[in-house]
Amino acid sequence: MSAAAPLYAISEYPDVQEIYRQLDALVAQPLRPVRHARMQEFLNYFDTQCVKSRALTDRAKQFIPGGVQHNLAFNFPFPIAVEQASGAHLWDVDGNRYIDFLQAGGPTVLGSNYEPVRQKVIEMLQSCGPVTGLFHEYELKLAELIHQYMPAVQMFRMLGSGTESVMAAIRAARAFTRKAKVIKVGGAYHGWSDSLIYGLHVPGTGRLEAKGIPWGATINTQEFFPNSLGALKRQLILNRALGGTAAVIVEPVGPESGTRPVPHDFNQKVRQLCDEFGALLIFDEVVTGFRLGLGGAQGYFGVKPDLTVFGKCITGGYPMAGGVGGRAEVMMCFAAGIGGVGERAYVGGTLSANPLSCVAGYHALLEMERTNAPVLAGQAGDRLTQGLQKLIRQYSLPFVAFNQGSIVHLETSGVMLLDFRHPLRLAKELKPRKHMLEEMGAAYMANGLVTLAGSRMYTSMADTDEVIDDALSRFAVVLQAIEGVA
Ligand SMILES: Cc1ncc(COP(=O)(O)O)c(C=O)c1O
Repeated sequence: MSAAAPLYAISEYPDVQEIYRQLDALVAQPLRPVRHARMQEFLNYFDTQCVKSRALTDRAKQFIPGGVQHNLAFNFPFPIAVEQASGAHLWDVDGNRYIDFLQAGGPTVLGSNYEPVRQKVIEMLQSCGPVTGLFHEYELKLAELIHQYMPAVQMFRMLGSGTESVMAAIRAARAFTRKAKVIKVGGAYHGWSDSLIYGLHVPGTGRLEAKGIPWGATINTQEFFPNSLGALKRQLILNRALGGTAAVIVEPVGPESGTRPVPHDFNQKVRQLCDEFGALLIFDEVVTGFRLGLGGAQGYFGVKPDLTVFGKCITGGYPMAGGVGGRAEVMMCFAAGIGGVGERAYVGGTLSANPLSCVAGYHALLEMERTNAPVLAGQAGDRLTQGLQKLIRQYSLPFVAFNQGSIVHLETSGVMLLDFRHPLRLAKELKPRKHMLEEMGAAYMANGLVTLAGSRMYTSMADTDEVIDDALSRFAVVLQAIEGVA
């Protein structure tokens, strides 16, 4: 790699104002789904080509709630069962091949089942097995490496998932500041812990999804509408009179992996507000951590959070992916036993920081550095986005494509743009817009493309120009089938 090689996946920051103009125009129009007859043809693919998947996932419905263990795996009209994954591709149990833009929900920037990391994992399994419960050198190696890439992460506590790590970050912020309130961006997903199932997916909806969660668990969680710094400031002022704000938590590219993108200076302004009001700034880098570059979103935006939450990439796609890191004085509240100062904030897990997860994470990060994978994945994201924008123009569609490096968004139904500021429209349009999105996902899948819920694509280093061009010709088949396209 030459000294001048780019370090970050984002080659050009998106014109956020222009994206919102296009998104507003999309939501203002009637839906433009796939033509009925063409949709039937696409659905026919599942009936004729996915017979084994259907049989397996039908059986699974008997023993697994909803038939799948995670909503990422749910696809309309039924989930496909995967047998093989390699690089940019997946194969299902019926032998169909797909271009994989789900990439396991984000962790595999090197591509699926990347051989050099797999070898290191196998060596670890042969020498030590997956877990001993005792300290392993790779825990230290991983923590040191993360600190090297992200100096703000002075100390690192490894945990089992992004969800747990968000919980831990909030606990640390509350223990350190001795304040209770936590402010998040409406619509953002920070995992499924009790206190964060609040304002989920749709901004302004508060406890709408908080089934099974007592009021007390969310009483100190607050949300503000995406990008509304004025609303954030008002909340911070109000909280000052109510005992103060422990933390503001943001996904630095915007909620839902930047589906609602933030202006470039947003994080800096949130940092200033946190400093003004004595709140900690938590960056949820579960998606952006290492995907945007080894310095994460904090390196890209040049903003130093107090705490950073990790998941996904932290183990290169291997299990038990989570951790929280940050300022030593805050992190020390996790110190168990020796070295602990003051009262301990309790976190942990039997399998947290097991040798398998640590060796996978350490070597995945080193490989990402050696190969410049985040930047290559970002270039693939640029090529995909530009190709999609060209198709959108070619067919005069109201759809919107944009990307933050290897995070690519293709908004066709506009469902992600609805919010509680327009409750009537939300009530009327949520279902049909959601259904259109499901259909789009199915149409892509029938054409050999796996996406995240029909509107998001993660690219990886394995996405060569040939793979992206192949994908674009498949997207063209679907976009040509949209109502109103001649
Ligand atoms: C931004 C963000 N935070 C937290 C989480 C939760 O991570 P996990 O699924 O590992 O619990 C996710 C998962 O998609 C996420 O995207």
